[in-house]
Amino acid sequence: MRVISPILLAFVALSLLPSIESKRPGKGRGLKSGRQKLTRDRSRMKALRRQSRSGLSGVMIPNCSEMTQSGEVYLDCQDQSLTSIPSSSTWSRVPNHLLLARNQIKALRSGSFLGYERLSSLDLQQNQISQVEEDAFQGLTHLTTLLLQHNQLRTLSEEALIPMPNLHYLRLYDNPWKCLCPMESLIRTLQVPSNRNLGNHAKCAEPVSLKDRKLKQIDPDLLCEEFGPNVNITQTLEPNPIRGKLDATALCHTYLFPVTWMDCRSRGLTEVPPGIPDNVVRVDLSLNKIHHLKPRDFQGAKSLRILNLSSNDMQRIDTGSLSGLLHLQELDLSSNRLHFVQYGVLEDLYFLSKLKLGGNPWMCDYNIHYMVYWLRLHPGVKHSGLLCQSPLEYIGERVEDYVRSYNRDCSYNSRPDQNQRDAEIWDSPMELQGEIEEEELEPSHLRAPKKYQIFRLA
Ligand SMILES: *[C@@H]1O[C@H](CO)[C@@H](O)[C@H](O)[C@H]1NC(C)=O
Ligand SMILES: *[C@@H]1O[C@H](CO)[C@@H](O)[C@H](O)[C@H]1NC(C)=O
Ligand SMILES: *[C@@H]1O[C@H](CO)[C@@H](O)[C@H](O)[C@H]1NC(C)=O
Repeated sequence: MRVISPILLAFVALSLLPSIESKRPGKGRGLKSGRQKLTRDRSRMKALRRQSRSGLSGVMIPNCSEMTQSGEVYLDCQDQSLTSIPSSSTWSRVPNHLLLARNQIKALRSGSFLGYERLSSLDLQQNQISQVEEDAFQGLTHLTTLLLQHNQLRTLSEEALIPMPNLHYLRLYDNPWKCLCPMESLIRTLQVPSNRNLGNHAKCAEPVSLKDRKLKQIDPDLLCEEFGPNVNITQTLEPNPIRGKLDATALCHTYLFPVTWMDCRSRGLTEVPPGIPDNVVRVDLSLNKIHHLKPRDFQGAKSLRILNLSSNDMQRIDTGSLSGLLHLQELDLSSNRLHFVQYGVLEDLYFLSKLKLGGNPWMCDYNIHYMVYWLRLHPGVKHSGLLCQSPLEYIGERVEDYVRSYNRDCSYNSRPDQNQRDAEIWDSPMELQGEIEEEELEPSHLRAPKKYQIFRLA
């Protein structure tokens, strides 16, 4: 009720504005009264806008949806063909997260975000932003995450970031950065070691001598030299790891709603891209050509809860590939070419609750037993699609039924306690293995308490 009531109030306010107004002042208590005043002003604004819409004035009201999740207000204005930031007074509540991805915004004017002081995240990716005025981000003192990737930015002054002292995540990649003197202060800021999540992967498009060099890695001293960065090319190109593999943030689109997630669908990927950030909750890698999961593929992706590997070309999942995914809840392995799952693969998945396995050529022989034992030990896991596809005699049979009949047949051959003994055999080495891998995968420097704030939406 508490969550819903402000929305209801806002709606009611639209139709019954006068009566609400006359009732409210008496109800104000402490902090709330200020907010109520805001809401009232907003409602009035809305009413005004409604009038202006019915008239001929051209104020456009974008078709955004307001949502509440874990007490945070999200305003979703994605894909609305917006060319400017909608005024904050348009909304019934003050958003904490503003999603403006995939619009047609070309410039961020001074004061664009006044009234949005509570924002902690702002998603402006996939617009056409080429200009950011100096005071554009004024007032965003609580902002921790700013997404500006996939825009047309060539230059940005460090001054633009000053109003956002709490910024921890800044995405700037896939913009045609012009690495000249005006960028010097920004580049220096990005290179401060504690700013390790600011501006990763962003690269210079110009000048030629710095093309494809990362903002994080170029020498800022060169930028304001008298003749510009006409540096000794052999010197600068040599240590440049351009040939390095592209990582997940560069290959996939990152979104913040409804959780922090990466859309890596249909990218023609043949392996899991490295560098999935530790705050990402969901990764969709479906519709690629990944043929093999390798140990450490998801290293560092500590917050991952939903992983979609559906419709790939996977034939093998190595033990250790999924280790570290302690919070994974949903795993979609459907429509691959798996015959069985390697012994030990599922060990770290303590919180798994959904496992999709359909559309794989599961082979009902001894290798498949591990999966069935694991499922038996984890009765909370809802799974689907585990059907034998070979050998011929078991086609279409549930794999569990196959294992049960296998055990029954074996027990006729004087091995009465096969199930339990198997479970024991499977159990002990797995735990050991799990421990060893954890040890390996989380070296002490990763385990040390972080001084950075990790931004998580859910
Ligand atoms: C607003 O968005 C909703 C949901 O996307 C859609 O059903 C509706 O048609 C849109 N209305 C307008 C006027 O675009
Ligand atoms: C460029 O740097 C390399 C390696 O430091 C050096 O051998 C070369 O002479 C330099 N060339 C010029 C034109 O300065
Ligand atoms: C995984 O991806 C496929 C294809 O994109 C989709 O059909 C399926 O619903 C997804 N699974 C989950 C659990 O979201």
